[in-house]
Amino acid sequence: MGKKANILVIDDELGPRESLKMILKPYYNVYAVEKGEEATEILRQVPIDVVTVDLKMPGLHGTKVLERVKQHDPDIEAIIITGYGSMDSAIDGLRLGAFDYVSKPFDVAQILALIRRALERRKAKLQLKDLGKTERTRAQKAEEAGRVKRQLASALAHDIKNPLGLITGYAEFLSSHLESLPEAKEDLEFLSHIQSSAQRITKLVTGFLDVAKLEAGHNIISRPVHLNQLIREAAQQQILGLREKDLTLTLDLDDQLPQIMGDEDQLGRVLWNLLDNAIKFTPPGGKIAVVSRLEGNQVVIDVKDTGMGIPENELPSLFSEFRRLRGAGKIEGTGLGLFIVKTIVEAHGGKVAAESQEGQGATFSLQFPLAT
Ligand SMILES: Nc1ncnc2c1ncn2[C@@H]1O[C@H](COP(=O)(O)OP(=O)(O)OP(=O)(O)O)[C@@H](O)[C@H]1O
Ligand SMILES: [Mg+2]
Repeated sequence: MGKKANILVIDDELGPRESLKMILKPYYNVYAVEKGEEATEILRQVPIDVVTVDLKMPGLHGTKVLERVKQHDPDIEAIIITGYGSMDSAIDGLRLGAFDYVSKPFDVAQILALIRRALERRKAKLQLKDLGKTERTRAQKAEEAGRVKRQLASALAHDIKNPLGLITGYAEFLSSHLESLPEAKEDLEFLSHIQSSAQRITKLVTGFLDVAKLEAGHNIISRPVHLNQLIREAAQQQILGLREKDLTLTLDLDDQLPQIMGDEDQLGRVLWNLLDNAIKFTPPGGKIAVVSRLEGNQVVIDVKDTGMGIPENELPSLFSEFRRLRGAGKIEGTGLGLFIVKTIVEAHGGKVAAESQEGQGATFSLQFPLAT
């Protein structure tokens, strides 16, 4: 595929079809058709590398079109374009071997990145074939199965958010109506359970979707960042939590700390999560310290606490998804915080590590390369 790749756009709607054509034309040979039937014709004439398929089409349905594309050449990568509320068919599409899906209205950078990745995958597959290795290796199969699972889970998480919003909204509405009625005390308590459970699911789902986005490589905007500034902001955001538990926070920041390259919002979330944990897992009256310093050509941030600590054998698995230790018990949380921290830090070329002993407090250290 040294020359321009061939992309086939299948969409019955003129608007999205034309805009996809415009987006892709500078980089690829683009063929656009209105109906699934026409797609088969093009496939016969041109060696297509990637197709984009709108799922909701009159005549031959998108999933059928996808089946035909895959029958024609299973190595053609397909990207599904979904309208609002057609997540079910997107899932069907992924099951049929589509590479990924995007929702309308689509984001130009996102669609270009997707096409690039789909082409890379096709190229890799074709190279493997050339080597006579048509049989996919176990690692690849596992990677692929993992990716599909993740995509399905993201689709599911995405669809949970709307009904969840309704549950929270109606529960709030009912609470405000019942508030003035003395006989509704018990009902109000039940409602508050509904609300807090719904909030918990919202947090889980939002966290999960954030991770999925991060893993897909979206959302990292790289600019020079003053980490000291972000530490002060994160501390400010946690002031209530600190006060409630009577915790002392000390900031020991190197004034000369150089900037690093990164995404302020994402790095802010890293610091917020580490402070949030330090506050949650430190008993009242304890101490928390954040230190920033330059070590060689790395910027290092330590978040230390005098809390319950972490058993040494748990340290290696601490940064996995949904990992919560026994000691976390009744303390609120989803087990996604540290996974998000790790994903963001690594996306910045950095490292995160934890040092602790049970009952002896914990130190989380971040390391980032300097801006060059
Ligand atoms: N500073 C700390 N001291 C002791 N244990 C910690 C500390 N930070 C994290 N942990 C342990 O690691 C687990 C995972 O942390 P993580 O931030 O991923 O999840 P969480 O705080 O439980 O939930 P969330 O961050 O999603 O609200 C925690 O449940 C806790 O058991
Ligand atoms: Mg946490």
